[in-house]
Amino acid sequence: MISRGKARAYSNIALIKYWGKRDEKYILPMNSSLSLTVDCFYTETEVVFSNSYAKDYFYLNGSLQDESATGKISSFLDLFRKAADIDMKAIVKSTNFVPTAAGLASSASGFAALAAACNVASELNVGLRELSMYARQGSGSAARSIYGGFVEWQKGTNERDSYAVPVDDAKWDIGMVIVVVNSNAKKVSSREGMKRTVSTSPFYRIWSDKAEEDVKEAKLAIKNRDFEKLGLITERNGLMMHATMLGANPPILYWEPESVLVMKMVKELRDEGISCYFTMDAGPNVKILCRMSESNRIKERLMEVFDEERIIVTGPGPGVVILAL
Ligand code: ADP
Ligand code: DP6
Repeated sequence: MISRGKARAYSNIALIKYWGKRDEKYILPMNSSLSLTVDCFYTETEVVFSNSYAKDYFYLNGSLQDESATGKISSFLDLFRKAADIDMKAIVKSTNFVPTAAGLASSASGFAALAAACNVASELNVGLRELSMYARQGSGSAARSIYGGFVEWQKGTNERDSYAVPVDDAKWDIGMVIVVVNSNAKKVSSREGMKRTVSTSPFYRIWSDKAEEDVKEAKLAIKNRDFEKLGLITERNGLMMHATMLGANPPILYWEPESVLVMKMVKELRDEGISCYFTMDAGPNVKILCRMSESNRIKERLMEVFDEERIIVTGPGPGVVILAL
C-alpha cells in the first residue's frame, strides 16, 4: 500500500515574538504571538507512506539527512501515524526556498508544509485549526504558517487549544524588506536559545507578560489600520526579546555589526518621513515592516550599503497550499 501528499507553506515573520515554552513536549508557548506570513520564502514537502519501506527517510534540498534530523521528522510523522492508525514508514522530500536555520523562519514553513503533506498522505484530513496544532508540535512558529496575512498564535490553556487564527489578510499596502546580513546556519538554534533564556534570564517574566499585552495592542492597531502604531509595537517587542536573551547565562547575541547598521538606517528613513520599522529573530538578518508602496525607496537606500541580492522585498503571503502530485 502507498499513500502520498504534497504541500507548500510560506514562512512567517513574527511581529510579536514567541520566545519560550511553558511545555516542551506539546510546544505550548509562554505567550501568544502575532506574525505576517510572507510570500518570498516557502517550503515544498512531499510525504509518501508505504508498507514497503523499512524505516523513515528524510531528504532536505535533495540530500539524505542524518539520523538526528530524520529522528525529528519521524517523531512528527508519529503524530499522524497514531491519529490515522497507520504503521507505514515514509519518505519525506522537502525543498526549502528559504535559507535553512538562518533566522529566516525555515522551521515555520518546513513544519507547516510537512504537516499539510502528512494530513493528505495519512488521509486524516483535519481542518486548518487542527492542522495548526499539528504544525505547532513540529516547531512552534509553524502553527502560524498555516494561514496567510496577519496571524495570531493563541497561547491557549492546554495542548488542545493552543493554535493559530487568521487576524487579517494584510491586503492594505503592507510589505517587508528583508536584509540578508548572513544566511549561514546559526550556532544557537531557536529551540536551544529560548530554553536557555527561559531558565536563566532574570528579565524573562517581564518580557513574556509584556508580549501578551503587545499582541492585544497590535491586533487593535491592525483592526484600525494604524500602521505606525503596529510598527512601533513591533520594533519594541523585537528589541525586548533580544534584551531578554542578553540577560541569559551564557548571554545570546544574534546580531552582527551590519544588523545594527540596518537598524540605524531604519531610524534615519523614519526621520525622513518613510514609515518603516525593524524586527529581528534568532539570527543576524533584519526584517523591515513597511508600506509596500514605499518598499522600493527603502531598498534603494539600503543598496547604498548592501548588494542588491541581499535585499529582498516581499508582500504578504498566503496560507498553506496543497499541491498536485
Ligand atoms: P530558522 O530560523 O530557519 O527557523 P530554527 O533554528 O528555528 O531556524 O529551525 C531550524 C530547524 O528547522 C532545522 O534545523 C530543522 O530541524 C527544521 N527545518 C528546517 N527546514 C525544514 C524542512 N523543510 N522540513 C522539516 N524541518 C525543517
Ligand atoms: C525568534 O518556532 O523555530 O523566530 O518551537 O523550538 O521550533 P521551536 O522554535 P521556533 O522559534 C521561533 C522564534 C522566533 C520568534 C517567532 O517566530 O515567534
